[in-house]
Amino acid sequence: MWKVVWAALLLLATVCVQRGYAKEAKGAQSLGHVSVVIVGGTGDLAKKYLWQGFFQLYANQVSSGYSFSFYGGGLSPNDKATPILFEVLKGVVCPRELSVERCALVKEQFLRLAEYRQLKTSEDYQALGKHLTEQLRQEGIVEAGRLFYLSVPAFAYADIAEKINNSCRPTDGAWLRVVLEKPFGHDFSSAQLLSTQLGASLKDNEMYRIDHYLGKQVVSKILPFRRENSKHLDLIWNKHHIERVEIVLKETLDAKGRIAFYEQYGVIRDVIQNHLTEVMTLLTMELPSNLSNTKEVLKNKLKIFSALQHLDRNCAAIGQYQAYNAEVQEELSKTKEYFSLTPTFAGIMVHIDLAQYEGVPVILTSGKMLDERVGYARILFKNDIFCIQSHSSVHCKPKQIVFYFGHGTLQYPAILVSKNLFKPDLMDTEWKEVTEHKDVSVLGLPISDYYVLTPTVEREAYAELILHIFQGRKDSFISAENLLASWSFWTPLLQSLADTFTRLYPGGADNGNMLDFKLLGREVTFANEAVVMVTQDHMGGSGTESFQVMQGKYRSADMVSAWPEELIVRLAADLQVAAENAVREGGRFHLALSGGSSPLALFQRLAHHHYSFPWRDTHVWMVDERCVPLTELDSNFRTLHDHLLQHVKMSYFNIHPMPVQMNQRLCVEEDSGALLYESDITQLVNASSFHFVLLGVGYDGHTASLFPGSKLDARGNSLVAFTESPAKPHQRMSLTLKAINQAQKVGVLVMGKSKHELVTQLSRVKDNPKNWPITGIRPTSGRLVWYIDYDALLG
Ligand code: BG6
Repeated sequence: MWKVVWAALLLLATVCVQRGYAKEAKGAQSLGHVSVVIVGGTGDLAKKYLWQGFFQLYANQVSSGYSFSFYGGGLSPNDKATPILFEVLKGVVCPRELSVERCALVKEQFLRLAEYRQLKTSEDYQALGKHLTEQLRQEGIVEAGRLFYLSVPAFAYADIAEKINNSCRPTDGAWLRVVLEKPFGHDFSSAQLLSTQLGASLKDNEMYRIDHYLGKQVVSKILPFRRENSKHLDLIWNKHHIERVEIVLKETLDAKGRIAFYEQYGVIRDVIQNHLTEVMTLLTMELPSNLSNTKEVLKNKLKIFSALQHLDRNCAAIGQYQAYNAEVQEELSKTKEYFSLTPTFAGIMVHIDLAQYEGVPVILTSGKMLDERVGYARILFKNDIFCIQSHSSVHCKPKQIVFYFGHGTLQYPAILVSKNLFKPDLMDTEWKEVTEHKDVSVLGLPISDYYVLTPTVEREAYAELILHIFQGRKDSFISAENLLASWSFWTPLLQSLADTFTRLYPGGADNGNMLDFKLLGREVTFANEAVVMVTQDHMGGSGTESFQVMQGKYRSADMVSAWPEELIVRLAADLQVAAENAVREGGRFHLALSGGSSPLALFQRLAHHHYSFPWRDTHVWMVDERCVPLTELDSNFRTLHDHLLQHVKMSYFNIHPMPVQMNQRLCVEEDSGALLYESDITQLVNASSFHFVLLGVGYDGHTASLFPGSKLDARGNSLVAFTESPAKPHQRMSLTLKAINQAQKVGVLVMGKSKHELVTQLSRVKDNPKNWPITGIRPTSGRLVWYIDYDALLG
């Protein structure tokens, strides 16, 4: 059946070319011809949005004096792709403002003006270039411009741009506009490289980098709304009034069908680095004096980028929906052992280093497989009124402005302002106030508690941006500087999260409160100690039984293993039990802690979760120290102070940093710092036996500051010694094997994929403290427990 339709359409298309482009502009003065080429013209995006957008452009402009021709380009040969293209074209729908008769006519014309062309080789592009020029010549019409929309994977951009430059440039005086879809790179350097490669073929003013969020009606009105309502907003758009800013994109869909893309990108690169970041800049940038001055808008946006505080992994909570890994294995033909760390959910806290926003958290969050589809940005204001009685009265309620992009409970785009804030002015005649509502709540408030503004006619983002491309409105697109500034902000976080385990979530309503996250100072953590259900599939097994913490033996000592989060929870709990027992029995808990990065999560956990920990009766000792002043960032004591000690209430007298600095010099033998520490231990710690010593292990098998090849006489009598590290700073002070092995309990914490090799090797080697100092840890009468996370254990 389609063959018949296709043949008919093809015939029509041929007829059209013979009939000429210029006919439809009858009556209007001819402004020239525009050729539109969608490269990737039968792909998903083109099917879903682009053809519809170009049809709307055509319908709007058909009487304006321009004439058009449309080409869907692709790698497939003409006979295969033409019917597919025409099926898509038949599905376009008319803008509401067209009458049924007019619509039928315009649609018929549009179909006649469209054709498929194979665009694979340089010759294909040369043929296209020739064809475009030849048609113009035959018709005797002036060329207005050529618009190439590259709806193809980004790796093909540079090559296609080169082909366009070589053979498809328009005739003199006409414009060339090449539209690029995200992703524009996957980090700062790849974006820079792409930008250089494209720059070799195209001028900056010829490139239109699309972020379709900028075409969403609400997003495009953020600045006009701020301007129109500045008499109210100027007073409250600052840290004194704003509690926090939330920018949220929740989706119910999964990543099925696009895993090849998604697995490389993940949620931060897919929507946060671009869509949500753009919204953030629009909300927080200084208002330009002229909103349509592209340069000024960009300048103000860049000021925000340069004021964003550096992000590290503590600023983000990341998750992955449970079925994702199996989808990756299937779509990418990976084995059952393949384990993806790509986040499909992220909650990130950003701070802006400007006096105006000091201390105001900006939360960006998005995820696939959540309970609902909705997007919004909410400015939540502080409510400084303390309500004694009538809590439901309007002035007691939250004050907020919500830029509601669409979907969710409301189902239409809107800007909502709590009635206890102010009555907003409309930005222009294309917006109206909604006064009759159905009975819904938006972010906790009934709709009747808001003033609601909405566009008079709803428009699709792509259609809007396609019109802007045609009009050459560069302000709706992402400039190269903007793009690089955004990547330079996000890249460090992406790098720091590269090996981070993500919280698994079941998807949909079953997520419950698993993904709720909280802000603790500068840190973001999941709010609930959710049980992460992990099936044995993730360990390469075949059962479906779920487990959280596994116990076993390692190097003939006890081992506890779990995913990182659970492991830390377990170790912290074990420490608390050890502390409570020690205090109950002897009134004191002597704890010796190591440096390094592995225990940081533990310190933070103890600081922020263990409020009943008997800190008052705890003495904290150092396992080892670098010979640097204790205030330096690479001092182990400084790390311990910053992540733990400063957050808990301990007596100054119970904190025992190693005396690495004496007589204004560092670690000089004759100053006897090691002896001094040893004498403190002997005097204060019963039988010089710590209750708990927490160790880590380095890639070379070192533990504490006991390195391979150094003198580690286990039978020697000293408890503290100066040692040498192969890495800077070389000089160290460390507890000796003797001091450690006298302890009642020794925990060795090993975390991260990068330690997997080490864990494997250590499981095979015999005790050989000279080459592998960690193997010298054999508590004489105490207990050794290895705490190894699954990443380190399983790789
Ligand atoms: C796209 C992302 O850019 O934006 C998709 O690649 C995401 O993963 C989409 O679903 C969301 O856009 P919208 O307009 O549906 O909110």
